[in-house]
Amino acid sequence: MSHGELNPRRSTVTLHMVASIDGIIAKKDNSVSWLDSSGDVYEKGVSVSEEEAAAFVKIIDCFVLGSRTYEHALQLGWPYGDTPTVVTTSRELSTSPSAKKTVEFYSGDLRRLVDEILAPRYKNIWLVGGAMLCQSFLRLGLVDEIRLAIVPVLLGDGLRLFDNSVPEQRWHLKDVVAYKTGVVELLYRNQSNQSTNSQP
Ligand SMILES: NC(=O)c1ccc[n+]([C@@H]2O[C@H](COP(=O)([O-])OP(=O)(O)OC[C@H]3O[C@@H](n4cnc5c(N)ncnc54)[C@H](OP(=O)(O)O)[C@@H]3O)[C@@H](O)[C@H]2O)c1
Repeated sequence: MSHGELNPRRSTVTLHMVASIDGIIAKKDNSVSWLDSSGDVYEKGVSVSEEEAAAFVKIIDCFVLGSRTYEHALQLGWPYGDTPTVVTTSRELSTSPSAKKTVEFYSGDLRRLVDEILAPRYKNIWLVGGAMLCQSFLRLGLVDEIRLAIVPVLLGDGLRLFDNSVPEQRWHLKDVVAYKTGVVELLYRNQSNQSTNSQP
């Protein structure tokens, strides 16, 4: 049974990730300077104002992340604002003052998390990492859209977004946006889920 059949409430799970050209989402030392623009400009690309970016983020109803991404986010400075955030962990994790009001912890069946806990409450659910949690969601067919931003850099070594455990799946290319920074954003929709979970 596909996720679409199990999730008739029309919520959408979007996997959002930023990767290098060679598919790496984190360096071994966890440094993030590779995400910064090199200053190189792609003339035909678009740029997004802070207002536009802020307006876009408002459509997100809920973030979902694995515990390692959560711990890294706390170190870097909480990027999820006041948006409700679910962190998957089997451990007793602490929260920071900036995050504690909006963070819930969850352990167990991820299909139950989406279908029984998140979908009844949230329309736009954003799965924002890391690799381990995203691979689990993909294996279970719980992802409706993939929004993948490719940064123009090769890293060679690090944590790969996709491993060998994800089964063959067809995805429909919904949009492509190239930015002045050289970042290209690819938006794909899961063909098997699109009939019930389509967004305009
Ligand atoms: N480039 C990007 O866009 C991007 C985005 C996000 C993250 N990242 C990077 O990715 C790295 C982290 O990724 P990762 O793959 O190592 O880890 P992760 O996916 O963030 O977290 C994995 C952890 O999630 C918990 N978990 C997963 N499924 C669970 C379940 N069903 N029930 C309970 N807990 C569950 C477990 O936590 P416990 O061990 O606590 O039980 C597991 O160890 C960081 O370096 C982060 O900065 C990059």
